[in-house]
Amino acid sequence: MRINSKILSTIFHTNKEDINKYCSHLLKKKISYSYIKGLERDKVLVQILKRIRSDQQIIAGKGRTKEWHEGWGEALSLYKKSNSLTPKFYTARENKYFRLNGELIKSNNPNFEVKMVDIFRNWYFKKYLTNINDIYEFGAGTGHNMVELSKIFPNKNLYASDFVKTSVNLLKLVSKKKKMNMKCFQFDMAKPNKKLKIKENSAIYTSGALEQLSGRIYDFINFILSKNPKIVIHVEPAPQFYDTKKLVDFTADFFQRKRGYTDNLLDYLILLEKKKKIKIIKKMKSPFGSLMIEGYNFIVWSPK
Ligand SMILES: C[S@@+](CC[C@H](N)C(=O)[O-])C[C@H]1O[C@@H](n2cnc3c(N)ncnc32)[C@H](O)[C@@H]1O
Repeated sequence: MRINSKILSTIFHTNKEDINKYCSHLLKKKISYSYIKGLERDKVLVQILKRIRSDQQIIAGKGRTKEWHEGWGEALSLYKKSNSLTPKFYTARENKYFRLNGELIKSNNPNFEVKMVDIFRNWYFKKYLTNINDIYEFGAGTGHNMVELSKIFPNKNLYASDFVKTSVNLLKLVSKKKKMNMKCFQFDMAKPNKKLKIKENSAIYTSGALEQLSGRIYDFINFILSKNPKIVIHVEPAPQFYDTKKLVDFTADFFQRKRGYTDNLLDYLILLEKKKKIKIIKKMKSPFGSLMIEGYNFIVWSPK
């Protein structure tokens, strides 16, 4: 099987016209996959469960700031040598097993997830940000999302931030080398700097970044509300989207909760919607994922 407009329209909860308009040009190079069954599926599920049992990483635990600082420092050295910006957490997928539409799949392409991320962000950037002037990413890491945004919209003003200095240094270098229209600064989402100016007609974007706060998201979401952007896009793990009656989803939920990724983002946004403070424009389950989790749940909202 191969990724085509039909499957994309199913997993992005939209129609084929929408896919053809925004991202089908990325399907020219074939991306093939197959659903796994029987003993192979059992073996992969056992492998996932063993990995959960042995995994020691605690998100936002002591020492995580140092790990991000060192990790992005390494990425900075690597970028100087190779120009690569794809973070390590995407590239180490040599097993070639992934998640698609809530099921386990196998792909011959170890970069299946990276390719799907690219298709997905092309779709949502073009669909939701075309009429926006200024776009702010928080927890931007290497800035690879902003690089793609600047290719799609070279004239928009971009702002990339992260809480560790090494990432900001990398973002600045990327911006300079690629001649991007991007300002870079340090910003801790756990202690938001209320003085930061957010322009009118702007968008705020997080991708796999609020997940790192282990639930300490309230100050940041309230900060966003106080800045009144036009639109907010989150692409984040969120356990509420899993159907834990299904084993494949159960394993991802188990892994995610053991690590302590943020689990209250969707609940808080639903509460704010009930209080008539925001409008949720779209929310949907991650269309695809890694072997271990579905990290790309999609939530779009705007302040009222
Ligand atoms: C999984 S990475 C995602 C990076 C990037 N958004 C992407 O999509 O590749 C998580 C990012 O969040 C950043 N981060 C962690 N805690 C943060 C905090 N309190 N404030 C701002 N950024 C933070 C890390 O430095 C890292 O860049």
